[in-house]
Amino acid sequence: MAQLPDNESVAPGTAVGSALTLAVERFVAGGLGLGHDPDGRVVLVEGGIPGDEVVVEVVSSKKRLLQAHVVDVLTPGLGRIAPPCPEVERGCGGCDLQHVSSEVQINLKTQIVVDSLRRIARLSDVQVRAGQSLSPFAYRTSVRCAVDRDSGRLGFRRARSHQIHVVDQCMIAHPLVEGIINDSLFPGANEVTIRVGAVTGERLVVVSGETEDYEVPDGVTVCMTRSHHARGGRKHGGRRRGAPDGHFHDVVADHRFRISATSFFQARPDGAEALVDSVRRALGEFDPTTDTLADLYGGVGLFAAGLGARSGYLVESSGSAVADAKVNLEATEVKINRSKVETWQPASVDAVVADPARRGLDKDGARVVLATGAQNVALVSCDPASMARDVAFLVEGGYELRWVEVIDMFPQTHHVETVASLVKVG
Ligand SMILES: C[S@@+](CC[C@H](N)C(=O)[O-])C[C@H]1O[C@@H](n2cnc3c(N)ncnc32)[C@H](O)[C@@H]1O
Repeated sequence: MAQLPDNESVAPGTAVGSALTLAVERFVAGGLGLGHDPDGRVVLVEGGIPGDEVVVEVVSSKKRLLQAHVVDVLTPGLGRIAPPCPEVERGCGGCDLQHVSSEVQINLKTQIVVDSLRRIARLSDVQVRAGQSLSPFAYRTSVRCAVDRDSGRLGFRRARSHQIHVVDQCMIAHPLVEGIINDSLFPGANEVTIRVGAVTGERLVVVSGETEDYEVPDGVTVCMTRSHHARGGRKHGGRRRGAPDGHFHDVVADHRFRISATSFFQARPDGAEALVDSVRRALGEFDPTTDTLADLYGGVGLFAAGLGARSGYLVESSGSAVADAKVNLEATEVKINRSKVETWQPASVDAVVADPARRGLDKDGARVVLATGAQNVALVSCDPASMARDVAFLVEGGYELRWVEVIDMFPQTHHVETVASLVKVG
């Protein structure tokens, strides 16, 4: 018999476009609520939080899994609020947790971290605690915007759509970023990343795609991606470049960092400082004046410099970040290696801070951390699932997990940052 497509293989009432009433039971990775349909299938609900009784519209229907979004709230879960940003009401999809109070957001995120450690690392009794709390609005100093190609105005994708929603305001953007969103035009461009130094006031944009008659406020450095053949650029004193080779500075933990247009830097300096403080706690008795540190996935040197390391290693694969790190760490004896962590020849050190991208350390990165023999390890992570998997590798390799701090770097969105403190046993 011919195989029915997924949508036809499910009971009537759960096809795409149909409405269901359900209770949201849990909050899961990706900022989704989890409930069940009347036949017991899991339903992942965009816009749902635990305790909600909601009417949802099914947007994808598979044999065992439905995806849906909230169309009506019958009974609100604890912490449900009206989104404070008017752009959400107008369809902006830039933030996915505006419907949850800030206090409940951190609780929900902490729960996801606890669940990940239990399910993936098989660790149930871990001390998982909220780290330093950070302001929930006007915080982002780095924002990637979509561009309405005709008008050249900046915005974000609409919720559940590829369409562009031009914004008049952005409540999570730092005021210096918001100023650029409001007062710039990039007709024809594909994407614009805005980066500012909150302390220094320096402002820069990285533009991808063809744009000729852009407008930016005075003093904003404009960097074009390499494929762009810049021809235009005028008004308000914006500068034009043939490649994204500009840089700006910001100050974190009393240290002034040079950050190139394409180098990674944490998206808020107060959050970067909170991470440095958390890593300091995580490294226990590590003394930066006498002990050696390996800053793996070290970027422009945030942790090595922020902790005040005098000697050790920074390992980073991006050329621009390595060039920045050389400037940012020039007063130290930290050796800077441009290399993938996985192919770096591990050196013996007293402490490791590892801050990989979303995919985490995985086996090869964890092998390098273990080979350093470090007494203390701080694992910084932006993905609870890869964090839990990596913790399991390190625990298997002879470390004990002391605690995990959850730092809400990105309020109003489901994203979460964690710092795990591990110590060598035996
Ligand atoms: C999450 S960022 C952290 C950077 C830095 N620790 C900070 O907080 O500013 C991850 C960094 O790892 C670098 N990276 C990505 N994959 C890498 C790899 N396999 N080996 C070394 N560095 C890598 C990226 O270029 C990026 O700078």
